[in-house]
Amino acid sequence: MSKEDYFDIAVIGAGPGGYVAAIKAAQQGKKVALIEKESLGGTCLNCGCIPTKTLIAHAQLLEQLQKAPAYGITLGSVSFDYGKMKERKDSVVQTIRQSLEGLIKSHGVVIIQGSAAFTSPKTLKISGATSMMVHAESIIIATGSTTLDIPAFPCDHKKILNSTSILEMTSLPKSLAIVGGGYIGCEFASLYAALGVKITILEALPSIISAQGSTLSSFLTSRFKKQGIDIKTNVMVKSITPTEKGVTITLADGTSVESEKALVAIGRKVVSSGFGLENAGLTVNAQKTIEVNGKMETSVPGIYAIGDVTGKAMLAHVASHQGIVAAINATGGEAFMHYNAVPAVIFTLPEIAMVGLTLEDALKQGLPAKIGSYPFQALGKAQATLDTEGFAQIVINTKTKAILGAQVIGHEASALIAPMALAIQNELTLECILDTIHAHPTVAEAWLEAAFIANDTPLHFPPKTKKG
Ligand code: NAI
Repeated sequence: MSKEDYFDIAVIGAGPGGYVAAIKAAQQGKKVALIEKESLGGTCLNCGCIPTKTLIAHAQLLEQLQKAPAYGITLGSVSFDYGKMKERKDSVVQTIRQSLEGLIKSHGVVIIQGSAAFTSPKTLKISGATSMMVHAESIIIATGSTTLDIPAFPCDHKKILNSTSILEMTSLPKSLAIVGGGYIGCEFASLYAALGVKITILEALPSIISAQGSTLSSFLTSRFKKQGIDIKTNVMVKSITPTEKGVTITLADGTSVESEKALVAIGRKVVSSGFGLENAGLTVNAQKTIEVNGKMETSVPGIYAIGDVTGKAMLAHVASHQGIVAAINATGGEAFMHYNAVPAVIFTLPEIAMVGLTLEDALKQGLPAKIGSYPFQALGKAQATLDTEGFAQIVINTKTKAILGAQVIGHEASALIAPMALAIQNELTLECILDTIHAHPTVAEAWLEAAFIANDTPLHFPPKTKKG
């Protein structure tokens, strides 16, 4: 690589935001550089979505195997080797990383391994594995976020872990205390509880996954309690101290919790410093995020920001979509970001998925809203596969019949949410769902049945009985 090079577009960060932006820009015939200081794929591929979902797949299979007797299948004793599970997780990540590199290169994107820092709005100094200057007409910042490590919770990555170092464990602890009952805390709680670890969740708010609304939160709380997970809410963790046997977690009320290991899952912090933003004339806001408009433009012409660093929904698929929007705008087209139909999935056992508004959100916004909810228990396919846990619900505007939101808990909820995102994005109404033929027998029929209920014309469900 020469000491300097000129590009139409340079992208800083090769996570699901950055690499997608780079591919999209290259597809518009532009010369594109993608600069990454660590591994291609960012948090999502290397220490987020993919490794966690791979580990969770093992727990899912174990749960399925436990159903064997109900199918009349005798398995004998089932055991597992966590070290081997970890090895498989590493190999899945490695395989995807290799194919991702091939994919990016196949689009003609130049991958530059190194750390980028602005020296002007159109120039980046690359250091580390590569030393060079990159000049670009447009620059897309996709630097993402990292674990939030605070002094009171000194992660030594042996006894006190964060969401990255916990993935390196090669054997399981007997007990794990999880600080934070958000997405990350609940996914790890579900995973390790299924593998037999004694879990305690310590959450400062009155409920776990509280941002997702009370129906989902109370469903998951009771599922977790049934599994033996100890959930302590309204507790503020003040400090974590390593001891000879494990860790002592001190709460604000003076009491303490002992555990073999602790996981800190109290949110993530965006990466918005250390790469010379000031040299580009950019500043961050009070939340330390980079302000962008609907076209993903920052306050400096020619500089775009996408993904977690923008402080919008911290989700890989949002970053990717923002990347497409930024790339289109940076290459002479026009595209806008929308956030009304962002699906989100919590990969607990069972999975939880949602899109659009919850009933509480809709009512808070003053909308005339109601819900239609259908239990998986009432579905033939769910009965056949013993996946009867959970429900699907649709939130509608009672006046316009617009679909405002949808939530689903149960087997494959992550896949089931897709048609509802499509419906909300395209402003479909309840009638559209009612008019759509749903294949039988499938769990997707839950949406049709929920729509019938929201329409007050329940089909495979008894009608409401009038009181009095
Ligand atoms: P979070 O913000 O969702 O949850 C952190 C929780 O920790 C909050 O409920 C908070 O009240 C609690 N907390 C903070 N300080 C505390 C203290 N001292 N004592 C007790 N409780 C305390 O953050 P989380 O779970 O770390 O996730 C970070 C981001 O990563 C999220 O924005 C999420 O969108 C993303 N993510 C997405 C996933 C997915 O799409 N499946 C999976 C994992 C993460």
